[in-house]
Amino acid sequence: AAQNTVQAAAENTAQTAAEKDQNTYSLALDTSDYTVDTMQYRGQKVVFRSYENRVYVAHPVDAAYESMNIYVPEDYFDGKTIHGYTAATAPIFLPNSVGGYMPGKAGTPLEEDRMSGGPNAILTALAYGYVVAAPGARGRTNEAADGTYTGKAPALLVDMKAAVRYLRYNKGRIPGNTDKIISNGTSAGGALSALLGATGNSPDYEPYLKALGAADERDDIFASSDYCPITDLDHADMPYEWVFGDVHTYYQQAMPAGLMKMLAGEGAAAAPDGTVQNRPANAPAESAKAQELTKKQIKVSAVLKKKFPAYLNSLHLRAADGTKLTLDKKGNGPFKEYIKQLYMDSAQHAIDGGKDLSHVGWLTIENGKVTDMDLAQYAVQITRLKAAPAFDALDLSTGENSEFGSASINARHFTAVGKKYNTVKKAKLADKKVIGLLNPLNYIGREDVTVAPHWRIRHGSADRDTSLAVPAILALRLQNEGYDVNFAVPWGQGHGGDYDLDELFAWADSVCR
Ligand code: DHB
Repeated sequence: AAQNTVQAAAENTAQTAAEKDQNTYSLALDTSDYTVDTMQYRGQKVVFRSYENRVYVAHPVDAAYESMNIYVPEDYFDGKTIHGYTAATAPIFLPNSVGGYMPGKAGTPLEEDRMSGGPNAILTALAYGYVVAAPGARGRTNEAADGTYTGKAPALLVDMKAAVRYLRYNKGRIPGNTDKIISNGTSAGGALSALLGATGNSPDYEPYLKALGAADERDDIFASSDYCPITDLDHADMPYEWVFGDVHTYYQQAMPAGLMKMLAGEGAAAAPDGTVQNRPANAPAESAKAQELTKKQIKVSAVLKKKFPAYLNSLHLRAADGTKLTLDKKGNGPFKEYIKQLYMDSAQHAIDGGKDLSHVGWLTIENGKVTDMDLAQYAVQITRLKAAPAFDALDLSTGENSEFGSASINARHFTAVGKKYNTVKKAKLADKKVIGLLNPLNYIGREDVTVAPHWRIRHGSADRDTSLAVPAILALRLQNEGYDVNFAVPWGQGHGGDYDLDELFAWADSVCR
């Protein structure tokens, strides 16, 4: 792997001999080195300049991942206007390509995206007149030649921050407004996008950025778009059981480490048993066959479910009208009603758009109006994806366990409950500080941080990769701190992202103009 890294770096960057000697890369974008490319978008030609594989830190740990692709609509070099934007005003769309906390290579425009079959977010952004910066980032399986892990937490976020700094460092060298950087990501990438939006300029990441030779620039962003963010990892096991705790069969398939490695960054969607799933690359695989929770897992599920109200109440969340969103000891109360209302609004929207939802057993519909829902029935009918705990698995088998490994340890616990009930010998708990660096909720509202002013958060009504409570808590916290949040639950949508690109860019336009 290390050999590939070195080779990729050599091929992809215009490094001088002296820089090569010192494993140093220039942070100045070489604007003379580009290609002009053309793609079709809805029957129209989109012409753009491609500046690819630019290493965005002076001293990369893994240059194959710590590099980005930049795409600029060609019209901006002729002084033209696209979709109301100019070379000076065009927002910069910043999609990450992280899934499953795995390494992600710099993204490219595609006419036929693997998930949607249509133009991907990068090509769509170009058609809408955005400049695109698509960075790669290290992930939990990256290894150095000596076998030490090089991409465990918080590497993915440090890399994205370095990429933002690189864009500011190169301000004015290419079109694009560095005050209008809009991050986008899905799932683990949605969590990464949220982290980028929540931790702007925090001194906590400075030592990591210095070590990489990141540009000495700001790393806050203007807006954060987060599809189904798999976030608040150190608390997400509790709301998972709050919703799914009465369901004792699950469908997630443990993926052998070797296979996981093989699939890294290749976008394979087939599970080991051959079932093809319409799930993002690197999301945990789903099996057609249900498995039973063990006795111990059922016990831990109950422990986690019972702990959720105290955690939720400690956040002091409020609805838009000021209502305190709390839970009683049994897990009932205004927060539960709020979550139910999100599903009900989602269903109502679908009905108003002409969908017949009379077959959906967990909804109560009277005269075309959704009047109630049954959260317990929802969990039964939508089925449970993950075992318990959903994230900090007792046998250290989840991607999150691996994300919280260290240079020398592949996987660790990151919650007290996971550690307490662990089923494997010599299991370690990750450093508290590192766990904290990966949770956006620790940063929103802090004085020494610049939080993105604008947010768009989506979590599908059929998504069971994390509880809807998780993105709802993120949205509420941001809203309560005074940030502009557009949060919705698209009906019938499972775990995925970039499925509503016209709406995404309409939102981006609305916050940029
Ligand atoms: C992803 C999905 C998960 O269920 C998870 O726990 C982590 C990451 C993903 O699709 O990126």
